[in-house]
Amino acid sequence: MTLERPTFPIPAAYPPELAAPGSADAAFVDGGPLADLPEGAMRRVGRGDLDVLIAHTPAGIVAVDDRCPHMSAPLSIGSLDGCVVACPLHEGQFDLCSGDPVQMPTTGGLDPDGTYIPTWSPAGKDPKIDPPGKKAEARRLTRVRRLRYYPVRIVDGRIEVALPD
Ligand code: FES
Repeated sequence: MTLERPTFPIPAAYPPELAAPGSADAAFVDGGPLADLPEGAMRRVGRGDLDVLIAHTPAGIVAVDDRCPHMSAPLSIGSLDGCVVACPLHEGQFDLCSGDPVQMPTTGGLDPDGTYIPTWSPAGKDPKIDPPGKKAEARRLTRVRRLRYYPVRIVDGRIEVALPD
């Protein structure tokens, strides 16, 4: 038996351990009309000081923090290719369907599991050596974490997202 892909957008499934803190019991708020968010589009919504990215991926609609898991740049002004969003700052790329980084930022640093990844360098060249000092140390110790998700539902043609107060 083959499963047909739904012809309407649905909230995408995400790893339960990556639910944003406080989102399980949060009230749903309006995230704008579904019709204005075709597949491949992204939108930023906010509540208080919380900025959230809503994206329409091939797996469905997702909502995550609109802060790059590296140094907090707004992912909503990056680019979306399938499930992968590219950050506008240091070329980090993140999979909105799994929560994992797929390309580390050019600055290097720690991946979600704490493994050090050196700064980017062109193919065939040795990794760039960071000069000693606090800034280089901060880059080395900056951990790129996995994305955190907010529950999504579709009600009467509008996207709703559960956001903590
Ligand atoms: S802030 Fe996004 S890759 Fe650095």
